[in-house]
Amino acid sequence: MRRDECSGEERRSIVITGAARGLGFASSVRLYREGWRVVAAMRTPDAGMALLREATGAGEHDDRLIGVQLDLTDGASIAAAAKAIEEAVGAPNAVVHNAGISAAGMVEEADLDLWQRMFATHVMGPVALTKALLPSMRAAGRGRIVLVCSSAGVRGQPGTAPYSASKGAMERWGESLAAEISPFGLGVTSLIAGTYDTDIITDVGTTDDRDLAGPYARLHQTMNSRGRFAIKFARPPERFADGLVKALEDNGSFRRHGVGPDASMLLVFSRILSSPGMHHLSRLALGIPRQGSMRGGAFPLTGAQKAMVLAAKVLPQPAMKRLVEVAMRRAATKEAADQGTQNHA
Ligand SMILES: NC(=O)c1ccc[n+]([C@@H]2O[C@H](COP(=O)([O-])OP(=O)(O)OC[C@H]3O[C@@H](n4cnc5c(N)ncnc54)[C@H](OP(=O)(O)O)[C@@H]3O)[C@@H](O)[C@H]2O)c1
Repeated sequence: MRRDECSGEERRSIVITGAARGLGFASSVRLYREGWRVVAAMRTPDAGMALLREATGAGEHDDRLIGVQLDLTDGASIAAAAKAIEEAVGAPNAVVHNAGISAAGMVEEADLDLWQRMFATHVMGPVALTKALLPSMRAAGRGRIVLVCSSAGVRGQPGTAPYSASKGAMERWGESLAAEISPFGLGVTSLIAGTYDTDIITDVGTTDDRDLAGPYARLHQTMNSRGRFAIKFARPPERFADGLVKALEDNGSFRRHGVGPDASMLLVFSRILSSPGMHHLSRLALGIPRQGSMRGGAFPLTGAQKAMVLAAKVLPQPAMKRLVEVAMRRAATKEAADQGTQNHA
């Protein structure tokens, strides 16, 4: 820890991965303002650091905002980043494993390369960086590893298994690590992030491995519209930074917090309900048809489609024609609005 020359107070140092955008960017700005020495680790520091300096007002030679190149899928980049971090701040007081990627697609659809990238980004890369930094943190006898996990990793979420599985694995290796390093005075915090308004929840920020005309088309259709509805409630990334600042006060050997009302609610449900109960709850929430209903290629109708069939049976033809026109106009308006939201994201 370095002392502030004016106040004589000790400056705490923090490494944040994926600091160029989204939650990592908002957290870096906030922690800099809170007086931390921030090591912002990112794939392209030239572009990212300029934005961070602009947002914080930090000068190019400010030793409280340091950029480090880091690509979590590249072993040489991880080793060089660990060296640069230790040269800059010594043993960091906290390391926030925030960098992440997302993807959509059923297990049958998702490419195996995608599984590899997910595990490289959320498991192998963060583990390698942690391994490289632990000797100095252990020698210092203090430090916190913070894992930015996800509601999707609390239990397997359909339509995004590589993300769910790798975020779940992130939680598990963190739990193992906590017990191993706590005798040396170190600790681990898992943050279960809810939905925040960043690139990762947009179409452009997500790898799309879905086959929209394939056997899972019916599931994609409902999951897509419900997912887009949920995204409307995404919170600004600065609210995530509030949760991180609070979590950095943790000093127990292991802590797990939901960040955001949706994540906190999910944690409560997952404590109360059995595993099959949680399975059915998420199936219902995502509009996935009951077991066996698509056997033999049957394509069950959505609620809205069933209502249309019923209306066609009971309504006179002119009323039905009018209803169809209204429905088509609403669908076109909704599609245009969705398109607008994506273009703004
Ligand atoms: N936003 C949400 O709703 C939400 C919900 C739950 C969990 N999370 C988690 O929160 C974390 C931050 O996500 P976000 O919402 O801020 O998403 P984001 O805006 O897409 O930012 C992701 C960041 O991760 C970096 N990154 C990706 N692959 C990397 C790699 N191989 N090496 C180094 N950095 C890499 C990106 O770097 P580049 O800028 O170079 O691409 C980017 O800075 C992720 O772990 C995500 O899973 C987010």
